[in-house]
Amino acid sequence: MRRGFTPPVAFSHLLLTEHIGAGALVVDATAGNGFDTLFLAELIGETGQVIAFDRQKVAIETTKARLEKCRLLNRVKLIHDDHQKIRDYISKPIDGIVFNLGYLPGGDQGIITTGPSTLKAVVAGLQLLKSGGLMVIVAYAGHPGGKEELTTLLGFLQGLDGKLFNVLHYHFLNQQKTPPQVLAVKKRVGG
Ligand SMILES: C[S@@+](CC[C@H](N)C(=O)[O-])C[C@H]1O[C@@H](n2cnc3c(N)ncnc32)[C@H](O)[C@@H]1O
Repeated sequence: MRRGFTPPVAFSHLLLTEHIGAGALVVDATAGNGFDTLFLAELIGETGQVIAFDRQKVAIETTKARLEKCRLLNRVKLIHDDHQKIRDYISKPIDGIVFNLGYLPGGDQGIITTGPSTLKAVVAGLQLLKSGGLMVIVAYAGHPGGKEELTTLLGFLQGLDGKLFNVLHYHFLNQQKTPPQVLAVKKRVGG
């Protein structure tokens, strides 16, 4: 039996496992060190594809090396660009999209996702989602700017039409540290 609640990143992976299957087309909007990209590459199998964005070259290189080591680079298209431009690169409907916000762990903590730009990418991602598709966002409120970004996202997601989208918020209410929070949006079938 588990000793505690599922930690946020593991919870985000649990959601993806439940909703994304073999053959899916999925996006990692923040490749970073490549852990989520690798997780998605395993999930979508030989017939699926992951498209992973990051605006930092070092993140793209780290992600590439991680995928090569696991022999899964052939399932992934890496794009060194801002995820706000997602629709310049993708026109087909997608099954899922993941954001893991904030800064690159081990990298430059001054390069962070921000409320206005993340919101633009989220809106574009929702437009690309298929009916039944899933968006998962892991958001951090502990670093400068993180709280404002989270507030922006919560305001937007709470306002989404409940007939078109189901929105979930997974967070710990009483922890002294600020663990990340998980926001998930499921595009309703027929929505
Ligand atoms: C918390 S890290 C991602 C962690 C990653 N998912 C992993 O599994 O290792 C956040 C990443 O978002 C990237 N980023 C920040 N703003 C971005 C933007 N506008 N477009 C694309 N990537 C961005 C940063 O460069 C950083 O690598």
